Amino acid sequence: MAQEFISSWTGLINAYRSWLPVSEETPIISLHEGSTPLIPVPSIANRIGKGSKVYVKYDGLNPTGSFKDRGMTMAISKAKEEGCEAVICASTGNTSASAAAYAKRGGLKAFVLIPDGYVAQGKLAQALVYGAEIIAIRGNFDDALEIVQEISTKYPIKLVNSVNPYRLQGQKTAAFEIVDTLGEAPDWLCIPMGNAGNISAYWMGFNEYYKANKCKKLPKMMGFQAHESAPLVFNKIIENPETIATAIRIGNPVNREKAIKAKEMSKGAFSDVTDKEIINAYQILGSEEGIFCEPASAASVAGLLKFANEVPNNTTIVCVLTGNGLKDPDCANNNNKAIFHSNIENDIKTVAKTLGF
Ligand code: F0G
Repeated sequence: MAQEFISSWTGLINAYRSWLPVSEETPIISLHEGSTPLIPVPSIANRIGKGSKVYVKYDGLNPTGSFKDRGMTMAISKAKEEGCEAVICASTGNTSASAAAYAKRGGLKAFVLIPDGYVAQGKLAQALVYGAEIIAIRGNFDDALEIVQEISTKYPIKLVNSVNPYRLQGQKTAAFEIVDTLGEAPDWLCIPMGNAGNISAYWMGFNEYYKANKCKKLPKMMGFQAHESAPLVFNKIIENPETIATAIRIGNPVNREKAIKAKEMSKGAFSDVTDKEIINAYQILGSEEGIFCEPASAASVAGLLKFANEVPNNTTIVCVLTGNGLKDPDCANNNNKAIFHSNIENDIKTVAKTLGF
């Protein structure tokens, strides 16, 4: 007889209900997001040395392949509870994929504004398959966000970017999961920053757990941006942000104040990493650890490697891998050191010879 298996994990709202602004009346729109693995990465720990323990929080294993699902299950559930029929967002790709999926799951219509030509193929494919209506603008993410913010105040359509407070409520659960797994908060949390919602959400999560005595310390919040898209590092708006990590190609983050507060209160730091450093970290994770993340996510590990000399002895570090590598196949195909024998004759001898026998 086939063994019956019923997963006990039914999504982060059910798991962390008492920590979230939901009630019995809230319809829970979920794809069983959350509960993502915290994986040790010895190849990175060895490069840091000094008895450090380094983990990645692999949030690319969420249902649509990014951490956005944590925020979207909350934002869409609350939009549904409020009786909304349509949602809108600006996106570098992941928010649009997640909004599209959860909106459809909840029976809502999704409109997404994206910077034309700057969204990775996998993310675009997702928005198409989940049936969102896509508006590609001749402008960047910051331009798109300005438009959707205004539209959502003028017309009956719910904004689901991270200015929607329910987004950060959902995303804070990643901090809960880290503490629940380690039994304590890490010493450092390394995280990529774009619109700076996620770093703010993590800080909120760690603080709520700290106040409830679930952990005895708070991590230093270490936020990283791509060198040519680093408004928080250089403390100015960047008019024309550029980077291979298109997810964080953002020049004017809306959650600026919250992120600065997280950095200052935690005695953390913001820093920039070059595209070259991002790709280096991306390749180490892929080829030495078997972990495929998108380039924006690798910025957290690139940042940690940049700070290697400043890591104290015996530090526990978590780097957040925000999105799945499958999202951006072009980046993968153009940035690897794989051996690829093409156009090989279809016979055993030739193949064996190619293998080196
Ligand atoms: N990593 C990935 C893979 C992202 O998609 C994003 C943001 C970030 C990091 C930065 O997170 O904005 O909270 O600081 N992506 C947004 C989007 C902008 O539209 O998908 P943040």
